[in-house]
Amino acid sequence: MSARRIIEDIFTKPTVFRRKDVLYPEYIPSYLPHREKQLKKLAEIFRNLILNPGEVSQRALVVGDIGTGKTVTTRSFGKELKGIAKAKNIDLKYIHINCHKDRTLYEVVIDIAKQAEVPIPSRGFSAQEVFEYFLKYLERNRSYALIALDEFNYFIETAGNDAVYFLIRIYDENPEQVKRINYIFIVRNLSTLYKLDTATYSYLIKNIVEFKPYTSSELIDILKMRSEEAFHPGSIDDKVIKYIADLEGYDRGGSGNARVAIETLLLAGEAADQEGSKTITLEHVRRARGLLSSDIVNISDSLYYLNLHELLLLKSIINVLKKIKTPYTTMGSVEKEYMHLCSIYGYTHRKHTQVYEYIMNMSKMGIIETRPSGKGTRGRTTLIGIGEVPLEPLEQKIDELLKVKSDTR
Ligand SMILES: Nc1ncnc2c1ncn2[C@@H]1O[C@H](COP(=O)(O)OP(=O)(O)OP(=O)(O)O)[C@@H](O)[C@H]1O
Ligand SMILES: [Mg+2]
Repeated sequence: MSARRIIEDIFTKPTVFRRKDVLYPEYIPSYLPHREKQLKKLAEIFRNLILNPGEVSQRALVVGDIGTGKTVTTRSFGKELKGIAKAKNIDLKYIHINCHKDRTLYEVVIDIAKQAEVPIPSRGFSAQEVFEYFLKYLERNRSYALIALDEFNYFIETAGNDAVYFLIRIYDENPEQVKRINYIFIVRNLSTLYKLDTATYSYLIKNIVEFKPYTSSELIDILKMRSEEAFHPGSIDDKVIKYIADLEGYDRGGSGNARVAIETLLLAGEAADQEGSKTITLEHVRRARGLLSSDIVNISDSLYYLNLHELLLLKSIINVLKKIKTPYTTMGSVEKEYMHLCSIYGYTHRKHTQVYEYIMNMSKMGIIETRPSGKGTRGRTTLIGIGEVPLEPLEQKIDELLKVKSDTR
């Protein structure tokens, strides 16, 4: 061992983690245990995209409860299909839209164009014009697109029937046209779809791919695979993995949610590190469960979409709420704390209008709550709160994300 390594080893704390990012929600594992059937079904539905590209515009509807692997399986399918298409000289773009983030038709089509790297003049065009431009671009380049609209229920609820109809009826008037657009719609259940008119509804439900909650033994396989990548050999044994799987397994009365199971693994690893323990024990898992609020796990996906200043704002809100010990605070207090944090971290703070926009965006994403002030406060201001999520673990999560963001700065 080099002198440098010996000295460095003394300074760096021991850790059970080999690669922590493997346990983050945005990580796409190369193999998805117990989702072979769903991948196969998707491949069957989109078979013609590879065999007879342009002949039909195909769609699938992915349905399943929270944390059942809908997003990761669809992403992985899209990535692989794109690669297979490329090997056959078909230019297929895979576009993954999170409708929790983009809720209006305009936001969705702009994001589609952006991900497809279609140069769109930034302002002054309607959603319809942007989409038209995108279609022409595909036509000109003889490209195809598979567009996944994830958390599609949010889009149905906020953009409405006409917007959904706009996206799906593109080839109605021109049946002769080469079909370049294909869709995967992702929802947790079918209930929001009942709000749509019959034509739109029956279009959407043609090819359903179902994702069932995971059983305990399925979760064991998932957790084992992720552990092998995430931890140093020998850091976690099968007994501990089985314990987590049994807590979440659908057949054991759990929710069958892989996200919560993986998050438990991450927090248990952190608990072991905090203690300087070389192995993750049942006690670390118990401690992790104490910190885990399902509300946090469920917004943790959205947290990854936040930019650095939104994270700083969220941290400011937490700081203020912790200090004043009331459910809501004011825009003014948050902004003051935010400026303070910016100066500590060495960032230039954003202007008020931008800050306001960030706050509204996080409110729209369901991460924070905002409401206009009622009587009792002077003037009109926006009240800001954090819902029912406990502040400590949320703050821990944000600190971690801030660290990641500032490292990649
Ligand atoms: N079969 C699997 N193998 C490995 N990891 C999985 C598997 N299924 C899910 N995961 C992991 O579990 C977490 C949750 O999965 P995912 O985000 O795909 O769930 P979802 O069904 O989209 O949930 P939601 O309805 O909340 O959007 C992710 O970290 C994902 O990587
Ligand atoms: Mg998802």
